[in-house]
Amino acid sequence: MGAVTHAARAVWDRGDYGPLADLLAPGATVLADTAAPTRADRVLDLAAGHGAVAEIVARRGTPVTAVDVSPVMVAAGRARTADLPVTWLEADLAAVPLDDDAADVALSNFGLIFTVEAAPALAEVRRLLRPGGTLAYTAWDPEGVVGRMGAVMAEFMPAPPDGAPKRFHGSVWTTGEALRDAGFTDVTVTGRTLPWRFDSPADLTTFFRHHSPAHMASEVAAGERAADMFAAIGRVFAPDGGAVDVEASYVVVTARA
Ligand SMILES: C[S@@+](CC[C@H](N)C(=O)[O-])C[C@H]1O[C@@H](n2cnc3c(N)ncnc32)[C@H](O)[C@@H]1O
Repeated sequence: MGAVTHAARAVWDRGDYGPLADLLAPGATVLADTAAPTRADRVLDLAAGHGAVAEIVARRGTPVTAVDVSPVMVAAGRARTADLPVTWLEADLAAVPLDDDAADVALSNFGLIFTVEAAPALAEVRRLLRPGGTLAYTAWDPEGVVGRMGAVMAEFMPAPPDGAPKRFHGSVWTTGEALRDAGFTDVTVTGRTLPWRFDSPADLTTFFRHHSPAHMASEVAAGERAADMFAAIGRVFAPDGGAVDVEASYVVVTARA
């Protein structure tokens, strides 16, 4: 296993992810409705987590192959979809052990965007899709609350040892440029929102600290600055310190291989 895969597992193997999956689930429905695979289509759910997309598509009668790097996510997803035609693969999206042209439709709900580098992941997705096949994924709007939270979290991360800039995926997933660079065509980007409601900023950050593997890993990485990081996250969602009542903006991106 390479160092990048190992690092991804170290992040995503932690925490009780189910409640966050529930919060993100509307995006999975939007993807299934947008791509609307037929029963004959070969469908992938990439960075599948507990398999929210796979479950919806499989319940509609289309078999799905779900791929995720985290053994913990795969075990939970496999258990959740045990009665459905879902095949699980534990793999890094940088190198998925499937043949070229193995799929007609590839879907990813807030998953593909967590791969460390966009270009190799998109090249791999294009390899997996037959020419003309459909990719559809959800990504956070960098200008929206979740995008701004990501930028705040990056400020609290230690600088990479090689002097590279701190990583924040930002707009690379939302402009379509990386897709066109990878050879995809017919790119569309459609704005949507998800409602996030919490009684207070502290309730929101407590939720992330228990259910979001990325926040749990960031808490460790931020070290003694972790409390400041969560306070700054709270201010993104509720600048006045009151209840959190936001529409978290994201985009649905579609493209043809
Ligand atoms: C925010 S979760 C989204 C999960 C799921 N799609 C959903 O709708 O709940 C991000 C997922 O990306 C997976 N992931 C992150 N990096 C990955 C990689 N390089 N290869 C495969 N999966 C990856 C994580 O293990 C995690 O399950």
